Amino acid sequence: MTLGLSVDEVLTTTRTVRKRLDVTRPVPRELLEECLEIALQAPNGSNLNRWRWIIVDDPEVVAKVAAVYRNVVNWSPDQSPEASDSREANAIYNRIERGAQLLDSAFALAEKFDRLPAIVVPLMRGRTDGQDLFNQSGMWGSVYPAIWSFCLAARERGLGTAWTTASCMRESDVCEVLGIPQAKFTHIGLLPVAFFEGDSFRKAWRKPLSEVLTWNSFEG
Ligand SMILES: Cc1cc2nc3c(=O)[nH]c(=O)nc-3n(C[C@H](O)[C@H](O)[C@H](O)COP(=O)(O)O)c2cc1C
Repeated sequence: MTLGLSVDEVLTTTRTVRKRLDVTRPVPRELLEECLEIALQAPNGSNLNRWRWIIVDDPEVVAKVAAVYRNVVNWSPDQSPEASDSREANAIYNRIERGAQLLDSAFALAEKFDRLPAIVVPLMRGRTDGQDLFNQSGMWGSVYPAIWSFCLAARERGLGTAWTTASCMRESDVCEVLGIPQAKFTHIGLLPVAFFEGDSFRKAWRKPLSEVLTWNSFEG
């Protein structure tokens, strides 16, 4: 079942969902495959289809992936003031717009990571190491649109997603857990997926267009 949102609504209200991911509700495999079928229509360089996808829904494997993620983001069940101080100190979030909220939300995701009903793991065939800019851009650019399409298709079906790349800091650990041949494939990130709680989402804060757009030259 789809929500019947307009294209613009989907594009402007597909947020990174962390706190509102409902980890108590299973997500049917067919629904995930439906979103992925749509995602595979995304553009990709020379139509090489260099992507591979793993969907993790076995609770034991989810827990192993969660352990890697939590390790990277410095999350532990320890709620002591010292532990939270060290989390705050480690975070780059102090320097960014609405960083405290983001940090709070990021830890909420880390906390529930081991109970997620599904984690989508996009992979890219090949390695960018040592590649020139043309090839690097072509490689990343051939998978990211499909990942975003997945998020949009999920939103329209009442599913929340959170695009995360933190696990790339421990790529080998993720590859070991999932049996990914790391010499041939690149781990791009982890995409938690669950039905979202509540009805809708708001537009997010972004730098205003006037600050990021110039016409005809960089200085404008
Ligand atoms: C390339 C990329 C990497 C990201 N990595 C993480 C991550 O590791 N953990 C996380 O909680 N959110 C991650 N995010 C989500 C961003 O924090 C989020 O998009 C941003 O705060 C804006 O919020 P919004 O998506 O709700 O508009 C990532 C987003 C992108 C596009």
